[in-house]
Formats: sequence, C-alpha cells, structure tokens
Amino acid sequence: MNPSVENILQKEYIDKEDIQFLLSLENADSERLFHHAHEVKTAQVGNKVFFRGLIEYSNICTKNCYYCGIRMDNGRYQRYTLSDDEVMEAARYAYEHNFASIVIQSGEQSSKSFTSAIGNLLRKIHAETGGKLHITLSLGEQTEETYKRWYEAGAHRYLLRIEVSNPSLYLKLHPGDNRHTHKARLEALSLLRKTGYQVGTGVMIGLPFQTTADLADDLCFFRDLDIDMVGMGPYIEHEDTPLWEYRNLLPSVAGRVDLSIKMVAILRIIMPDINIAATTAMQTLDPKGREKAIFAGANVIMPNLTPVQYRDNYLLYQNKPNVKDQPDETRKSLEKNIRAAGDEIGYGEWGDSRHFGKRITNDEF
Ligand code: 5AD
Ligand code: SF4
Repeated sequence: MNPSVENILQKEYIDKEDIQFLLSLENADSERLFHHAHEVKTAQVGNKVFFRGLIEYSNICTKNCYYCGIRMDNGRYQRYTLSDDEVMEAARYAYEHNFASIVIQSGEQSSKSFTSAIGNLLRKIHAETGGKLHITLSLGEQTEETYKRWYEAGAHRYLLRIEVSNPSLYLKLHPGDNRHTHKARLEALSLLRKTGYQVGTGVMIGLPFQTTADLADDLCFFRDLDIDMVGMGPYIEHEDTPLWEYRNLLPSVAGRVDLSIKMVAILRIIMPDINIAATTAMQTLDPKGREKAIFAGANVIMPNLTPVQYRDNYLLYQNKPNVKDQPDETRKSLEKNIRAAGDEIGYGEWGDSRHFGKRITNDEF
C-alpha cells in the first residue's frame, strides 16, 4: 500500500495537490480511496440512497453548448414540450411510489410562457400532493425574478452545473457570445443561494482539453462555494456536436468512468455531508457505473420518469440507457442493484442535503 495515500486520507484538509495525487491512483490504491469514501459516507449520511424522479420537460433549448446533443442548432431531434397532464402523471407516479422528490429538467428557455407554465405546474403539483413532494428545478440560467417566482411557487432545490470551473476551458466548450458566459453562470449560482434554494452544481469529467489540475480545481470550487448538492459525470461524445471533432483527445471510456468515480469518492471525503448524485452518464459508459458511484459516496439517484415516447429526443449524449424502460422496470432494477450494493432506498423521505440544513441553522446568509 502506498503510504502517501494513507497520509492524505488522514489529513484534516486535503488540498488541490493532494486531490491531483488521489485522482492519479491506480489498482489497490484507488480501491483504498473508494473504501475510505464508503466509510465516510456511512458515518456521515448513512447508507440511504434517495430517489429523485426525473421529468425531462422540454428539449427546446436556446443555447448552443458545444458538447450537448439538444443544442439549438442540432436539427436532428423533434422538439417537444410535455403537456401539463403528462407532467402531472409522472409527478403522481413519483408521489404514489414514495419517491418524495422529483426533478424538472429542460433545455434553457426564458420566454414568459415558459416561466409561467413552470410556475403553474409547481402550484398544481403542490396542490395535488399536499406539498409532500419536494421539487428540484434544473432549468438553466434565469432572472432573479424568475428564481424568486418559482421558489415562491414551491420549488426547493435548483441544479445548475458550472460544467467546468476553469473560465478559459469554459470558453473552449461554449460559443464566445454573451449568452454563454462563465461569469453569468457564477452569478446565477449566487442568486440561487440568495433566493433560498438548496443549490446543486456539477461538472463534466474527461472532456477534451481538461487536465487533472482542472478536475482538482472543480472539487475545490464546490468546497469554496459551500455547495449543497453535486451531480457530475463523464463527458460522452455526440456526433451532432462541434466537440465531436476532438474525440481523439478523450481519455478512454474506462478512464472516464474511473476518473468520475474518483471524483465522487474525493468529494465525499472533502464534503462529507452534501448530497452527491450517481448520474446516468456514469451508467451510460459502464453498466455498473451508478452502483460503483454509490459505493464510493453517492447518495442520490434520478430514475427517469419522462414518458417513454419522448426519450429518444432528449439525448444530451449518445447511447443513453433505459430509453425504452417503463418507470416500473427502472424502479425495480434500481431497487435490486442498490440493495446488492449494501444500501437501502430512502422511500418517503425528502433526503435534503444535511449540509444545507446545518448551514441555514448556523448562519443566515
Ligand atoms: N456528455 C455528458 N454530459 C452532458 N451534458 C450535456 N451534454 C453532455 C455530454 N455530451 C450535461 C451537462 C448539463 C447536463 C444537463 O447534462 O453537464 O448541465
Ligand atoms: Fe441547452 Fe443545457 Fe444542452 Fe447547453 S447543456 S445546449 S443549455 S440543454
């Protein structure tokens, strides 16, 4: 066993250099990292995994991120928006199956009709479930006014990935116009915090041009921001996007999975009480990817509740799994796999970030 791994794992403060070292571990040393993260998870947040039923509300997007399949300029997909009834049916499924929580995600849109449709849906879901279903939004950058309206209509959490914390790398992955700025994204995260949401962010792992130092910075960024939740996963190339051209610069599939699990493990160690998602992208590159992430520290999973007929049109990346699975099949296979991994499902519990709970009782920001 590498003695420096043990030294780092025992440290009170793990710095950027330590993180880079941990990201480069191999074989028995990386197993040691995963086991340590597993112990931290058990001690700090227990062995419960919380379900967030994912509703992919619309694939219409006004942005053109270079990595994403549903970017505005990709004409391949049929654009859709779910009807209120379809959203309500998915929300009802989550409620009746005790998921206790849903995520409404969409391509980025900011029209008045979009923002009011979301507000109305939030109110409807609350009315129908007596406020018992917690709602997370993942609807991109919006105005402060919109964040407030949605919060007042009953949304509790908001996910907005920074994508990469390094501003110059961000520029390589997005058009250089004023609709895609790193600065605006940072400001959005701070507005969300100010509005009162539990705030989640995240990054993609194994992108072209990304270094291990960038990934270590990403983890330090989450810590500096004192974030409540993180969802991150491997980058997966998509042939209809500009980044496809650079696919020869990517780490191997196994390498991206391995880096992603290490990122989860290190994050669990440096931010022991936050919520960390085992993302679908991990499962896309490795059928056991989500279970591996759960072992190494993840405690949230987002089963897809989007009506099956729309899923082929919500492909941010290719080879997305379970596009044909009905919610019952997904739920049953997740239950089995989570139990096999030694964890249980936190049915009927909101599973709020403990970190958020502690922060709001300690200091009102
Ligand atoms: N590979 C992996 N993740 C992607 N996302 C978008 N495109 C890809 C891709 N090609 C992620 C982004 C976005 C989230 C909804 O999906 O991080 O924030
Ligand atoms: Fe739109 Fe989000 Fe895809 Fe960017 S990552 S193109 S904002 S859906």
